[in-house]
Amino acid sequence: LPLALAACSDRPAFDAEDIRHATLGAGLPSGFLLGTATASHQIEGGTVNDWSAWEQSAFPDGRPHIKDGSVSGDAAQSWQRFDTDVALMKTLGANAYRFSLEWSRLQPARGQWDEAALARYREQARALRQQGITPLVTLYHFTLPQWVSDAGGWENPATLDDFEAYAAHVAEVLGDEVDWWCTVNEPNVLAVFGYLDGVWPPGKKDAKAMATALSHLIEAHARASRQLRVRDTVDADGDGYATRVGLAHHVRIFQPATGSTADITAAGLTDSFFNESVPLALRTGRIHLSVPGSVSIDREVADLKGSSDWLGLNYYSRDYVRQDFREASLSNQYVPSGRPVSDLGWDIYPEGLYLFLLRFRDLGIPLFVTENGMADAEGNRRPDYFRSHVYAVEQAVKEGADVRGYFHWSLMDNFEWAEGYTPRFGLFRVDFDSPDKARAPTPAVESFQDVARNLGLMP
Ligand code: NOJ
Repeated sequence: LPLALAACSDRPAFDAEDIRHATLGAGLPSGFLLGTATASHQIEGGTVNDWSAWEQSAFPDGRPHIKDGSVSGDAAQSWQRFDTDVALMKTLGANAYRFSLEWSRLQPARGQWDEAALARYREQARALRQQGITPLVTLYHFTLPQWVSDAGGWENPATLDDFEAYAAHVAEVLGDEVDWWCTVNEPNVLAVFGYLDGVWPPGKKDAKAMATALSHLIEAHARASRQLRVRDTVDADGDGYATRVGLAHHVRIFQPATGSTADITAAGLTDSFFNESVPLALRTGRIHLSVPGSVSIDREVADLKGSSDWLGLNYYSRDYVRQDFREASLSNQYVPSGRPVSDLGWDIYPEGLYLFLLRFRDLGIPLFVTENGMADAEGNRRPDYFRSHVYAVEQAVKEGADVRGYFHWSLMDNFEWAEGYTPRFGLFRVDFDSPDKARAPTPAVESFQDVARNLGLMP
């Protein structure tokens, strides 16, 4: 895989006029999956896991773990309102939905299964398929059952056995309703926030723990993939494949702040650790993680090579990077003032999505955009964000990238982890104060419908 770091800086920007006039969707391949993405803890409500415990506690200096002081609580009540959500998807013209299973609901204790919760997820997958919406199911999206976390979470190799058992059971129960599986969401983000920056559970600041957790998360993918392939043998959508397994990898452009060797090197190190380690491990079957001066892991993992039928990219933004020896990562990331940014201060840079799709074009497996979106409480800037990123996908497809789907984050506003409920990522706005968590369309719904129409998904 090429180290694309320096290449980012000199690429021409997309032309806003071209995007405005593009018939977006028309340039996407047939069979393309167009949908939205969510995660159980962020939308379902009532989920009790390592995150809900974290939300109720504080940092040693007294600051709440969640910036705006909120807790996930009832969230958008999607557990009860799944039918409403399917109706929203129909309004959008979507033909796919990426959502996650809540492990803590399904397995209250080791060896114990909540069959009613499993049945409920089966109904959800079936309801989607009946409406012509292909389910893409994530097994692990940041939340662990408390019993797994108490036993050491992702630092403990025994968690791999638990995860494998969970994957095996789910494959058996849901396999005839689901073909598309995403094992693990954003292992790199979880490793950094949970084990290096200490801002997510388990709140560690330890480079060694971070590397251990990341290597276990990658191995967890391989283990789950094996189970899914063996146990899910039913081809639910009749396209010739019973199981298609991948993971969702967060990618971010790290742009050297200046042309200095120091900044270019810092950006390169950050880039290779954050963007490159996971796909490289999937390609070679060998996990190689090194944090200069502190850790180095280099080991071969059984069944990792070939464990992925596709790679998902979660792409949002770009950071500028300056070398900084005070930081464990040797680099400092920021967005210069004057750049267009989301409500979370994330640089809006659609060209980055195009660059990543080309960068991973030669991995030899299909690519998906498993997440892309922006925090925009007003909702007025999301249409341009959405359109410019779909444009990026089309440009990459033109240049030979095998992109099979795009999932917008998110269907509706939800619990944004350490940021709480303040950022609003939804195509549908949620009134969290109303008893039924009422959903209302934002202007980007029309932009989405346009793409769905041009793809032939709706009249
Ligand atoms: C990535 C994560 O997978 C998702 O949970 C989160 O809400 C979005 N990005 C937005 O930050």
